[in-house]
Amino acid sequence: DPVDRGGKAPRGLDFTPVAPNQLDAVVVPEGYQQHVVIRWGDPLFPGVPEFDFDHQTAALQERRFGFNCDFAALLPQDPLGLVNLLVTNHEYTTEPMMFRGYSADNPTEEQVRIAWAAHGLSVVMVKRTPFSGKLTPSFSRYNRRFTMTTPFEVRGPAADSDLLKTSVDPTGKRVLGTLNNCAGGVTPWGTILSGEENFNQYFGNAATRNDPRLTRYGVTGTATTRKWERFDKRFDLAQEPNEVNRFGWVVELDPNDPDSTPVKHTALGRFKHECANIRVADDGRIVAYSGDDERFEYIYKFISNGKMRKGGSKAARRHNMTLLDDGTLYVGRFTGDSPPAEIDGTGKLPSDGNFDGSGEWIPLAAGNRSFVPGMTAEEVYVFTRLAGDKVGATKMDRPEDIQAHPKTGVVYCALSNNVDRGKPGSKEGATEPNPRVLNKHGQVLELTERRGDALALTFSWNLFLVCGDPAAPDTYFAGFPKDQVSPISSPDNVAFDPHGNLWISSDSGAALNGNNDGLFGVPVSGPQRGHLKQFLTVPRGAETCGPVITERVVTVCVQHPGEVDGATADNPASHWPDGGTSQPRPSVVAVWKQGRRQPDEIGS
Ligand code: FEO
Ligand code: CA
Ligand code: CA
Ligand code: CA
Repeated sequence: DPVDRGGKAPRGLDFTPVAPNQLDAVVVPEGYQQHVVIRWGDPLFPGVPEFDFDHQTAALQERRFGFNCDFAALLPQDPLGLVNLLVTNHEYTTEPMMFRGYSADNPTEEQVRIAWAAHGLSVVMVKRTPFSGKLTPSFSRYNRRFTMTTPFEVRGPAADSDLLKTSVDPTGKRVLGTLNNCAGGVTPWGTILSGEENFNQYFGNAATRNDPRLTRYGVTGTATTRKWERFDKRFDLAQEPNEVNRFGWVVELDPNDPDSTPVKHTALGRFKHECANIRVADDGRIVAYSGDDERFEYIYKFISNGKMRKGGSKAARRHNMTLLDDGTLYVGRFTGDSPPAEIDGTGKLPSDGNFDGSGEWIPLAAGNRSFVPGMTAEEVYVFTRLAGDKVGATKMDRPEDIQAHPKTGVVYCALSNNVDRGKPGSKEGATEPNPRVLNKHGQVLELTERRGDALALTFSWNLFLVCGDPAAPDTYFAGFPKDQVSPISSPDNVAFDPHGNLWISSDSGAALNGNNDGLFGVPVSGPQRGHLKQFLTVPRGAETCGPVITERVVTVCVQHPGEVDGATADNPASHWPDGGTSQPRPSVVAVWKQGRRQPDEIGS
């Protein structure tokens, strides 16, 4: 009976959904408590004074929590998860909201340096209060900041390529800084992967180069919005043509070794990496999935040659951190199984009742060997988008987070939206995996590797969710009755809870009646499959990012609160989290069930 699915909510999803709203607050279900864990500007090291919005310095920002937290990971340091390392990306800065009276035409050098220091990543120890989900930051020897000036080691087949050499780094193997770190992943060996996404916006004077390879990556125009090119020539393409090639990679860092140097892995290709997530094959080789988050871009897979070494020792981590340097990079091609005439762009299900089909992973390069006609292996790694173009990869609706289910191995990919699909003059109309034109609300795709084998080069796929207002005919929630699900727009990050439920955070929730973004949970199996429920909403102008779901606590990054058109520090659109007339501050929030006084046991 498709109407009454009945039954109890699956474990981990027993909450009353939060209604869509436009409040300037984090709204959680009844019976849950919340706490702000850490805010932009909070000190990470002893001796750093409390944040003072009106007296910022670059030197202090280097030692404070960065701006616009995006991906987050909680790495437990004990079996109960009482002590954790919280690792977060700081995707980008919004200077008009960071500085009163900010002049976009004439930023000061100190403002630019503060922005460099507010990008990157943070590692901070957080301690959980027993019987609670409250997380409190503490100073520890693990606390670190990675910024625009931190040295990274470049590794893999494109390291030391001429395409990566600059006047400051003639080796092509040492890059200062990381940029636009969006989503990421925790590896099975306990390190962090972080995707460098929209790096194009930081490099000025592209027009002087007249290079189609730059244009293909959206590196265009003359002056940048932030004007960094005035203060360091590496951001000026007229003076330093290759610096831009040193961004757009997957970064790996080992938070458990505070002295370690972070790595940029060239074997995973260069594009607007949303993230990278690892699945381990039966024989110990590893695969990494990654999406290129832009309209009409591709989904990628990497298969290592080496095998994962088990155990948490530093030596094992050192070995496992080399796995992403040696292997084969593939790009996805998706084929629908319904007649193309039935994919009419409206989102109406085809006659077989599913948006689904088959697909293959097309090899691009392995080590120094290119599989792409007319491109060397180095070119494939550095200009991976062009390689995908040449082999006929499938143009998707903004591939965001992609991650394999920890128990089933089924891969979930959020395809955020694509308002250009099917537009007059656009690259492409509706296809079965991207079935709506002018797609405002996005979809969530399930991909099953052949025979469930992580190493397979063919797969089947289907759309699990076609997002939007459930009352609209162009939405689909795995066949679950739509009058019982929460509305969702622009799925972005995906995560799994310990029970195997999928959690999805949204970006551009405002596309649905101006409502705030949120976090949603949904079972992927059983009678409640597709029963999507909203767990929380974030404040005005904010995006919900980096969800982590454990037995005890759910954390989310509240990114860019108050970022609405025209809002500035002189005219803030949000006062979250500090209230009153305060400036909004991107922050991490912890949410937990009230009065749940069970013992602190894993799996309780
Ligand atoms: Fe930074 Fe793809 O969102
Ligand atoms: Ca079909
Ligand atoms: Ca994202
Ligand atoms: Ca996003």
